[in-house]
Amino acid sequence: MVKTAILVSGGGTNLQAIIDAHLFGEIENCELTAVISSNPEAYAIERATNAGLPVYIVERDIFPNRAVFTKAMLDMLQDLDIELVVYAGFNYILDEPIVKAFENRIINIHPSIIPSFCGKGFYGLHVHEKVLAHGVKLTGATAHFVTEIVDDGPIIMQKAVAVREDDTPESLQRRVMEEAEWKILPEAVSLYCKGLLTVKGRIVHIRDEGDNNE
Ligand code: GRF
Repeated sequence: MVKTAILVSGGGTNLQAIIDAHLFGEIENCELTAVISSNPEAYAIERATNAGLPVYIVERDIFPNRAVFTKAMLDMLQDLDIELVVYAGFNYILDEPIVKAFENRIINIHPSIIPSFCGKGFYGLHVHEKVLAHGVKLTGATAHFVTEIVDDGPIIMQKAVAVREDDTPESLQRRVMEEAEWKILPEAVSLYCKGLLTVKGRIVHIRDEGDNNE
């Protein structure tokens, strides 16, 4: 079983998608070992508690800087003997030591089709505001491995979503979650836990089940 920690900061709808998929047996060989929140007020905590999952708080605001916050999070993950880390609406960038310790073992969900509308300043509703302002007709979401460069890691899965004439940032955000994020993040976790992902450089290869060739 892959011991998995889900890192959250806010509403937790992506966490809920993983909890539901796991409950319905769509994520095999995966133990949801911990939900770790950077925010003691996050609604995601209630979702985890309702699902009977262990909850831990590593509150960003009590740490003097990112390096100390990263160390505290790394210690927590190693104490829990975590293999896979999932950023599910986790709003913080963690430093190199954690990315190195968990190379190609941290999966993030970003609400755009990377490499468009990503990187510094592109998070939450801001992404959808910029998508609408640019007038693109297609957006979507990306599940990718985390590296030191924000939103730049090897891409596991992407799903496109059409932009509508009458979209607002809020309506687009909701549809990107429903049609893309809540589908590809559990799927990416499932592929990892089945051992079907191989990373060569920045390319992620997804092996077919039953295909024994590396
Ligand atoms: C989502 O759009 C996610 O991609 C982004 O934060 C938003 C909130 O996610 N990182 P959640 O409802 O807390 O999972």
